[in-house]
Amino acid sequence: MGIVGNLTADQLQSFNSQGYIVLESFAVDEDIDAMVRRMDQLVNDFDPSSTASIFSTKNQQKLTDDYFFESAEKISFFFEEKAFGDDGKLKQPKQLSLNKVGHALHEIEPAFKKFSSSNKVSSLMFSLGYKRPVIMQSMYIFKQPGIGGEVVPHQDNSFLYTEPQTCTGLWLALEDATVLNGCLWAIPGSHKKGLVRRFLRDEDGVKFDRPSPSYDQKDFVPIEVKAGSLVVIHGDLIHQSFENQSQKSRHAYSLHVVDTDGCQWAPENWIKRKVEPEPLYVS
Ligand code: FE2
Repeated sequence: MGIVGNLTADQLQSFNSQGYIVLESFAVDEDIDAMVRRMDQLVNDFDPSSTASIFSTKNQQKLTDDYFFESAEKISFFFEEKAFGDDGKLKQPKQLSLNKVGHALHEIEPAFKKFSSSNKVSSLMFSLGYKRPVIMQSMYIFKQPGIGGEVVPHQDNSFLYTEPQTCTGLWLALEDATVLNGCLWAIPGSHKKGLVRRFLRDEDGVKFDRPSPSYDQKDFVPIEVKAGSLVVIHGDLIHQSFENQSQKSRHAYSLHVVDTDGCQWAPENWIKRKVEPEPLYVS
């Protein structure tokens, strides 16, 4: 085994043919605990009334969009769709109502920064052929028991488009992910068919440039992993996850990385950085 995080020739071959690979025990318990504990504190300190109104009223599209856009350089809290009752109030404690927190944990919060900019993450990206890898967004995803919503089939390159396309998703399981609590599912090899649509931002907000194709659910395979495993996802891989109908949460930390050497960040992407993000490097 060479540098930690570096993929072997076999792993690279598997990634290239399947469009994803699972790296077991990628994160150590200490790193996972630090991230889970810090998120617990952030959620405890978060006042839901500060943002609940934004998400509980469908007509407030502009406020919702602005909160989303500004989250690129902040730590922002996003609720589950099913979190609110008809009265606009949370139906259950805030701890069980959040869908995700994002999108700059990797820059702002030390526990997340430590893992995100670790040598093993950097080495992984260099072994995938990146020349100047940059993390464009990070998300802490809760997939709450009972209400953790589905994520419909998509490709990450739709949301984080560079010319040529270079997005890779790094999905770290902070808890065991199973078919019962809403693990990832993917269509192996689907990354070879190219990008099917883009998610564009303009003065009216964000939208896809075309409808999603329909997919045959029989083509998806579940990616069940233990806490600490990292799923590396090709930017063109079709993947999804279902609702969490179990009583166990399924916390995950996800990063999306693009190359900034010889690649152009598309101006139509939802993320428009004011401050240029730092590239990853191996120290
Ligand atoms: Fe994704």
